[in-house]
Amino acid sequence: MRRIVFALLAGAAALYAPLAAADPLAPTGQWSAYNAGAAKLPPMGWSSWNAFYEDVSEEKVMASAQIIKDSGLAAKGYRYIDVDDGWWLKRRQPDGRLIIRTTTFPSAKGAGPGGDTSFKPFTDRLHAMGFKAGIYSDIGRNTCGQVFSTDPLNLPEGTVAEREVGLYGHVEQDIALYFREWGFDLIKVDGCGVRGLSATEPRVISGQYRAFPPLVDVEAVGHSDIAGVRRLYEAVGQALQRANPDNDYLFSLCLWGAADVRAWGKDVAGISRTSEDISPNWSRMLHNFDTTVRRALYAHPGSWNDPDMLFVGTKEFDADHMNEARSHFSLWAMVNAPLFIGYDLRKAPKTMMDVLGNARIIALDQDPAGNQAVLAFDTDDVQILVKTLASGDKAVAVFNRNATPVDAVLTADQLKFTADGEVTLDDLWDGGQTRFRKETKLTLAPHQTLVFTAHGTRTLANGLYLSEQPGRVNPAVDGVTVPEHDPLIHRGILPWRSTRGDGDHPRYGGWGGAQADSSPYGETLQVAGRRFTTGIGALANSRLEVRNAGFATFSALVGVDDSARDRSQPVRFMVYGDGKLLGQSAPMRFGEAPAPLKVDVRGAKIIELVARTPQPMRFSDPVSWSEAALLR
Ligand code: GLA
Repeated sequence: MRRIVFALLAGAAALYAPLAAADPLAPTGQWSAYNAGAAKLPPMGWSSWNAFYEDVSEEKVMASAQIIKDSGLAAKGYRYIDVDDGWWLKRRQPDGRLIIRTTTFPSAKGAGPGGDTSFKPFTDRLHAMGFKAGIYSDIGRNTCGQVFSTDPLNLPEGTVAEREVGLYGHVEQDIALYFREWGFDLIKVDGCGVRGLSATEPRVISGQYRAFPPLVDVEAVGHSDIAGVRRLYEAVGQALQRANPDNDYLFSLCLWGAADVRAWGKDVAGISRTSEDISPNWSRMLHNFDTTVRRALYAHPGSWNDPDMLFVGTKEFDADHMNEARSHFSLWAMVNAPLFIGYDLRKAPKTMMDVLGNARIIALDQDPAGNQAVLAFDTDDVQILVKTLASGDKAVAVFNRNATPVDAVLTADQLKFTADGEVTLDDLWDGGQTRFRKETKLTLAPHQTLVFTAHGTRTLANGLYLSEQPGRVNPAVDGVTVPEHDPLIHRGILPWRSTRGDGDHPRYGGWGGAQADSSPYGETLQVAGRRFTTGIGALANSRLEVRNAGFATFSALVGVDDSARDRSQPVRFMVYGDGKLLGQSAPMRFGEAPAPLKVDVRGAKIIELVARTPQPMRFSDPVSWSEAALLR
């Protein structure tokens, strides 16, 4: 009998063991999210696009840079000065060298070898002012302006080949030119050139552009060549590393949430756009924010979610809309977004400079722990976001999404503080201080966001929950087998489309990705009827990498989440330390009570959490690492 039990156990172990060398759930002992380049903190700076669109010029860029320096914004962290679309004249033939439009960038004239155009004088000036310099390109042959602009202003000129100014087929040549010869420090790589140009497109027929079969369908993740697009961007990343042996470069991936990039952007670039272009109106700001706010586990030092550049200062975020401007800025800081000013600073009133220069809000974005805020309360009306700071204190934002005033209650529980301990709140906009126990009432004006740092008594005194340190948790394999569109994103009218067509539909992949304090599909974590406000929700057949900052014990209550639909297979939960199996659960079935899993992880640098089923599932069931924590 004992022999039979042993044989059964051995058989079960074999079923759950890594299947082959290429097994994506096999532990690696490595951190696999992007970590090259200079994005240890979310980058800050200024970009020409939202301020000037294609009507960009050296004079406008330098004037903006000067204001950033003189006003003290540079000293507060705004370091990158980026030239977006509109700088190029053509790709010279036959050598393929890119030629700068010198009517708008006069210092480039004759400044390069043999009298060629060069941005070196321009980047030299920016560097001398203490800035970093950024440039813009496209992963395809043609650019966004060429594909979408109805205005010919500053579009590349010449033959079909001369108009092909994008990186496609020229990665090594262009990256060497931008970084080695011209001295840039950042490149934003857009993706319009791979959205496809059909042979029947008028500009293809008229001989401006070559036809290009689409790799990306922005409306349908299932109709995009995800692996193909990813490979193109990875090649740029490799060229960047070769061209920048000092590692001082920033790779900004701009694929607007298409081709499932919200799942893989973190592995390929320093910052990655999660949505369509932002517009200077409340509804579209909500849209962009929503594409980032449930992706806390997809942002880390070295790889950040990018909900797009700031529109603080313009239209619904101008000086007549101070609550909106402050909310936009606060929310970007809470989700560790890159902070790129997109505003003509020459016309900025002091009130706007004060928003962009609020050092206490900037400090939340730039907190060295790199934890994107996690939703502690989530409705379409009010959201409460909580972010664990390097100091151990919390930052909390209470956000009124609506145009009517609202009363809200903030609880100590939402901060993961004890209800009987005193909580101190410091208001980062008004400077006031309040104290409370258990809960406090707040009143929010329309579209207002109250932002506080919060000090209290931690519920978990001797460690940190994993959902409090999302910057150290990377869903290396998130278990999503078939990319699906995320439905939880506000759908605003796109200004350039108005109400033509049939509206804005779910279209960004990433649904089902791992979540902090929530199931992968947005439900409360729940196992066999027991609800958890804290934990990591993931799909079965996932592998999470966790950087261990010196903790001794990993602890969780594991089980199959009650939101599981397939339910056909048991899930085994395994904990690895630097590639070695340190502990595991029994196979857990749907409906079974959560099982404690406590593992000694002392000395391990990378912990890996694997949830595995014996057979692959077409749609994996949600599982819960409830109350997952690292303890001292
Ligand atoms: C795309 C990008 C924008 C901007 C424009 C330039 O739309 O998403 O951020 O760079 O192209 O044409």
